[in-house]
Amino acid sequence: MNTLLLHPDTPGDIERAGALLAAGQVVGIPTETVYGLGANALDGAAVKQIFAAKGRPADNPLIVHIADFSQIFDLVAAVPDAARRLADAYWPGPLTIILPKAACIPDEVSAGLETVGIRLPSHPVARAVIRAAGVPIAAPSANTSGRPSTTTAAHVMEDMNGKIAAVLDGGACQVGVESTVVSLAGEQPRLLRPGGISLEQLEAVLGPVAVDRAISQPIGDDVRVSAPGMKYRHYAPHAPVTAVCGDPAKGAAYIASHLTAQAGVICFDEFAGQFDGHIVRTIGRADDPAAQAHAIFDALRAFDDTDVTAIFAQCPDDSGIGLAVANRLKKAAGFHVIEV
Ligand code: TXA
Ligand code: MG
Repeated sequence: MNTLLLHPDTPGDIERAGALLAAGQVVGIPTETVYGLGANALDGAAVKQIFAAKGRPADNPLIVHIADFSQIFDLVAAVPDAARRLADAYWPGPLTIILPKAACIPDEVSAGLETVGIRLPSHPVARAVIRAAGVPIAAPSANTSGRPSTTTAAHVMEDMNGKIAAVLDGGACQVGVESTVVSLAGEQPRLLRPGGISLEQLEAVLGPVAVDRAISQPIGDDVRVSAPGMKYRHYAPHAPVTAVCGDPAKGAAYIASHLTAQAGVICFDEFAGQFDGHIVRTIGRADDPAAQAHAIFDALRAFDDTDVTAIFAQCPDDSGIGLAVANRLKKAAGFHVIEV
């Protein structure tokens, strides 16, 4: 398959992407979090092609993206008051809300669960292409399963060239980590994946939110997790990663004293000078987790073009969007975490 590279500023390209989606094809689309691998969410056969292109396990459900709030009513069994309040506060934006699904959601999307995740993205190109398709769009992150998520059209091409119909190039994603996934399908609101909307922001609207333990701990194969995607090794570059958490200056010193000759470093800007002779990627200042979120997947991917044999990465603390950055780094490290 010849994968088309489309540009939102080229007249007709958004409509072309929409027509491909409406015809049951898979298209890479920009969102404010990461690029998504989109297909018609109401067409099980179209959705199956997403799983094939990514090499994604069939038991991992997909998020359904809408362009306007009113579309949610056809996709879920009911919209509780808590969902409305979350949507008022944070939609359009980097938040996915899990609710009991409506009958129209194919099993391919929900992976056999009784629930479905809904997201109204804020990226104008994402919304324009969903409108052009005329259907809700199921979309996981547009990476090969297990690799770091894709935050530029070039990343999507790297993983998907020849496997999907087209990629719509909307530039670099602003947030850089995936949406926050919160379940309102149980008795208590539950954070399943930290992301662009922080736990503190969720609790400001919902009150106490339970935090799934898969966010900060490794989960064994035998354990049933609330978000199936959380159990897989994820976001991983080829070289093994060690995540270094705790005081940033101590962490930098730890890394400097443990670096082997062929090791690379992901560090906060102010420590970049401490690793002379090594390949270093900076991700923003230690006190700027939003900058770190924006840079983290590109940094993880960049090492796959090098011959580093190990990667040491500085990890932020859990406040604000730092929780999401730390979660992605710990998962990339297979939870090989050093606390300094
Ligand atoms: O920002 C994002 O959310 C991006 C963009 C493209 O919107 N999408 C994304 O999708 O990250 P994906 O498939 O890579 O991650 C979705 C996560 C997975 O961990 C999945 O298991 C979980 O959400 N999930 C989806 N539907 C679910 C459901 N019904 N119940 C529990 N977890 C669900
Ligand atoms: Mg993903």
